Amino acid sequence: MTRLSSARLATSLFDSTFSARPVVVATAPGRVNLLGEHTDYNGGPVLPVAIERRTAVAAGSADDWIVASTMDGKMRGIDVDAPLGKSWTAYLAGVVRELRKLGAAPNGAHVTVATTLPIGAGLSSSAALTVAAAKALSLLAGRRLTPPQLAEVAFRAEHDQVGVRCGRMDQTVAAQGERGTALLFETATGAIRRVPFTARLWVVDTGLPHRLAAGGYNQRRRECEEALALCREWRPDLAFLAQLEPDDVPEMDRRLPSPLAARVRHVVAETARTRIAAAALAAGDLARLGELLVAGHQSLRTDFQSTIPEADYIVETAVELGAYGARLTGAGWGGAVVVLAPTDREARLVAEVARGFRDRFGRAPEIWSTRATSGVRRESVPV
Ligand code: GLA
Repeated sequence: MTRLSSARLATSLFDSTFSARPVVVATAPGRVNLLGEHTDYNGGPVLPVAIERRTAVAAGSADDWIVASTMDGKMRGIDVDAPLGKSWTAYLAGVVRELRKLGAAPNGAHVTVATTLPIGAGLSSSAALTVAAAKALSLLAGRRLTPPQLAEVAFRAEHDQVGVRCGRMDQTVAAQGERGTALLFETATGAIRRVPFTARLWVVDTGLPHRLAAGGYNQRRRECEEALALCREWRPDLAFLAQLEPDDVPEMDRRLPSPLAARVRHVVAETARTRIAAAALAAGDLARLGELLVAGHQSLRTDFQSTIPEADYIVETAVELGAYGARLTGAGWGGAVVVLAPTDREARLVAEVARGFRDRFGRAPEIWSTRATSGVRRESVPV
């Protein structure tokens, strides 16, 4: 079955909703993060890849704001100045408010949204939406923002307007990803290095949606803030947890109570691991990268405690079946596992993981593959 592109879906919804062609269509990708989990709000590096499933925003000029999405099919007016809830329209309104600050928002628009990304699967569907919306709406207003500007608008929309306590990884890769590369993003400095990465990745969805704005994620952020405050008692110059070196860990372990010490252990080890992984990738050493993925998962499991049994099972099984490595990607507490495997083992491995998962958990997981693709872009309006 051929999948319709998100751009085509958004355009045809625009046609049927507004009886018109959109003026602008923009799309942005979801992402998997290879390494650097829970480091982006601790000043550490991340190593995400833009994936081939995208969200499209189609927009046409109007005096009011009317929106529709393939997710719920309903057409509705939105008041971008009213208090924001947590629905997808809040993310759109957040983008408009942030674009206004740059003088880059239209006065109104008719908008449709379509996506080929699973929602809430830890693959960054919200950043795909905010980045694509920032691009489409700013173009509609006659402005061409740079990818870093689009990432910042999208981050501010989610973080400041909607109130999701995310870091900057997702919006950055959705805006700045490039085909055939992973993005080493140093969140403390904003520095970006593109590392060639053309291998196929498998995404195994646990089917358990994570809840980013609530629960575990916010609790871990609080724990990291608390740990940073305590570390500053002996390291007053410490700006971020990721500045601690592996050599500092024994001292930190002595000083911090449980579970804060374990959280910091993860951040410090993950920071080092992410930079080593970028070097392994640059050297084309997928076997080494795979080992680091597994070590990263183990650290999330024991020290950060953000994995779930379904993900642990997929990682263990994939490695037993000869994968280079696998890891729960994204915030955690649900979501998807990313698997990297030698080409000659992929077919059997995927079939066996699916079978084992079904036997164990009573349902078939969704599994699909992707390669690193490009970040946000304007699409020609499909006919
Ligand atoms: C979510 C957040 C990101 C990052 C990851 C965990 O995806 O949006 O900013 O914190 O979790 O690495």
